[in-house]
Amino acid sequence: MSDIISQLKWRYATKKFDPNFKLSQAQLDTLTEAIRLSPSSFGLQPWGFIVVADPDLRKKLRAAAWEQSQITDASHLFVLCRSTEMNQAKIDEYVSAIADQRGLQAKDLAEYAQMMSGSIANKTPEELQSWMARQVYIALGVLLTTCAVEQIDACPMEGFDAAQFDQILGLEAKGLTSLAVCAVGKRSEDDSYANLAKVRFPKEKVISFV
Ligand SMILES: Cc1cc2nc3c(=O)[nH]c(=O)nc-3n(C[C@H](O)[C@H](O)[C@H](O)COP(=O)(O)O)c2cc1C
Repeated sequence: MSDIISQLKWRYATKKFDPNFKLSQAQLDTLTEAIRLSPSSFGLQPWGFIVVADPDLRKKLRAAAWEQSQITDASHLFVLCRSTEMNQAKIDEYVSAIADQRGLQAKDLAEYAQMMSGSIANKTPEELQSWMARQVYIALGVLLTTCAVEQIDACPMEGFDAAQFDQILGLEAKGLTSLAVCAVGKRSEDDSYANLAKVRFPKEKVISFV
């Protein structure tokens, strides 16, 4: 079995974290850099990620997440958010980042900029929100896979009240809204979920070769 497969089998949605364990700064840096490197459609990165360590904030967040203990007991909590808006100003900001980081002129990128503007203009507000949300879930996948490779336990979570999370974390002012959470840290030795068989449909059912 390749390493990546054994690591993906090792990972599981951790229900009970060791509340005394804290990730090292180096581990946190790896996770934040991995999530920053996630790909997105056009490269537009319509997202923001909040890493919550503060215990008081986490108590409030736990109350808005059906009292799930991962929220307070994990080492850190990643809150994955989409941008509330995608507009021309954001496209311009991205185009100037490409120009800076690749040593190009804005005029070299005019066609690409036009293509992005056209694609955004063709979407309804609901389609834009759904498109941005899909990009954020790619980042969630990257984060979970990185955790598995780094032997860091994680629990992806959607079981929370997004409106309350947004309010507690002041996300509106940042132009963000929360979509998913990922608690990261170390499994508690008595988390019974660690020993459960992984339930997945068989290859023949979910993979087709044509
Ligand atoms: C988007 C998403 C949301 C989830 N929300 C929760 C949640 O709120 N609470 C929880 O305990 N587990 C949550 N899970 C964990 C899933 O139940 C778990 O990943 C699934 O049962 C597969 O098991 P495994 O991850 O242990 O292999 C979520 C998983 C995903 C991907």
